Order: sequence, then C-alpha cells, then structure tokens
Amino acid sequence: MLRVENLRKSFGGVVATNDLSMTFEKDSLTAVIGPNGAGKTTFFNQISGSLRPDYGRILLEGQDIVGLPPAEIVRRGIGRAFQVSHLFKTLTVEESLRGALLSPLGKSLRMTGRFPLRETRDRAYEVMDQLGLTSKADVVSGNLSHGDQKLLDMALALVLQPKVLLLDEPVAGMGPEEREQMIETVYALWKQGGLTLVLIEHDMEIVFRVSQHIYVLSYGRLLAQGTAQEVRHNPAVIEAYLGTPKETHA
Ligand SMILES: Nc1ncnc2c1ncn2[C@@H]1O[C@H](COP(=O)(O)OP(=O)(O)OP(=O)(O)O)[C@@H](O)[C@H]1O
Ligand SMILES: [Mg+2]
Repeated sequence: MLRVENLRKSFGGVVATNDLSMTFEKDSLTAVIGPNGAGKTTFFNQISGSLRPDYGRILLEGQDIVGLPPAEIVRRGIGRAFQVSHLFKTLTVEESLRGALLSPLGKSLRMTGRFPLRETRDRAYEVMDQLGLTSKADVVSGNLSHGDQKLLDMALALVLQPKVLLLDEPVAGMGPEEREQMIETVYALWKQGGLTLVLIEHDMEIVFRVSQHIYVLSYGRLLAQGTAQEVRHNPAVIEAYLGTPKETHA
C-alpha cells in the first residue's frame, strides 16, 4: 500500500531521517517507535507532504507522491492526525467534521466517488459513532477534554475516508484510563478493516500489544524491525530505546 525508499531529510547538520526504507502492507497496523528526536514526526511530515525529502521516494499504491501538495496527498488517500492537534476551537464537533467535508478537498473527494456523495451530517455521525464522539456532537471543540480533542483530530482525518491513516502519538498526555480507551478505539477502528494504519507511539506496551510490525528508529536511521517479539528482544533496541539494561543487584 505504502512504501518509502531511501528517505532522507536533513535540517542543517541534523540528519532527521537517514536513508529510511519501509513497507506498510495494505490493511496492516504498523508502529514506528524510537526515542525523542529519532525522526518519527519528520518521517510523517514527509509522507503527508508538509516536508519535502532531500532524497528518496514515497510510493502510494506504486505511485511516487514526493513533491505533491499536501492536499493532493490527502486526496490520494493519506490521512493524518497530529502530535499536537490542529482544531477549529470555536466550531462544535459536528460542525468541524461537516466543515471538513464541505471544504474544497472534501467536496472533490465526495464528487469523484471515492465514497458516495452523502449528506455531510450522515457522514459526520458515522465517524463520530466509530470513535465514540456522538455524545459530544454539539460540544465546542475548544471545550473538549484533551482525549476528545485527539479523537476529533483523528475524526477529521477519517471523515475523508483515507486508505492510510498516520497517527502521531494518539495517547500522548493522557492518563491511564483515557489512554486505554483511546487505544481500544484505535484498535477497533483498524479491526473494522479497509484501513492501513501507521502509529507513532512511545508507550511500548501499547505498541507490542497492537502492532503486527514495528520499525524502530534511532538518530534518523532504521535500527531494527520485526514483530513485537523480535523487536522486544533485540539488544540494539533495548540499548537505544529502553536505555542500557540495568545491572541488577549491582
Ligand atoms: N523543522 C525543523 N527544523 C530543524 N530541525 C528539526 C525540524 N524538525 C525536526 N528537527 C530535528 O530533527 C530531529 C528529529 O525530530 P522529530 O521531531 O522528527 O523527532 P521525533 O522522533 O518525532 O521526536 P519526539 O518523540 O520527541 O516527537 C530532531 O533532532 C529535531 O530537532
Ligand atoms: Mg514526534
């Protein structure tokens, strides 16, 4: 579904992504992990077109999307939720979602038939139901709890029916209960099928629990990849990500 090849991006002397090649299979749930500053968000920024790679290809269903404007990338089926959400704080949840559908991009998507032209209200409610936001339909976005703002951010990507959904730390800043709820919502969403999900997440327990495949970044490079089991026991990962293993009883 999505493949990146030799992706490289530097900021001055910092090589934020260094020759990254990764594959995201259709309908898979893949996690991208790594310590702070490893290049995870920069990786997403290149896929979503907000940053142009210095080098490399990003293939969506075989077509290179490097250099396309972000709106065109969304139109082709890549949706994204942000580490820090971008909401219209004065609109209600329903208004925000209908606004996304009524935007030029939303309109063009509905009319070109990626999904049937429907009442924006119906589509907004469909997505709110999927994410458990229906009871908040009339709440002004700025008044939502942190967790619900993250859900709305995700809903805004989802309402345009992406093929690939990029989630940058969906449980960041949440308490344990909210965290658990969010991860269950995300997992249930993915289980419904038809969505290739890429998750950036710091919480290793969550990552190991839900991901089919994990890519580990460190200083912009791909340090390791594999299943939870493979990654969990990889010595390089343990050292780079979890810190040097503590000497017990030393
Ligand atoms: N716009 C920018 N200009 C300059 N340097 C940047 C920019 N964006 C990222 N960087 C640098 O690139 C590196 C990777 O940053 P990035 O935000 O991608 O890391 P991350 O893995 O998402 O970290 P975190 O877990 O803290 O979110 C860091 O050294 C960061 O300081
Ligand atoms: Mg980040």
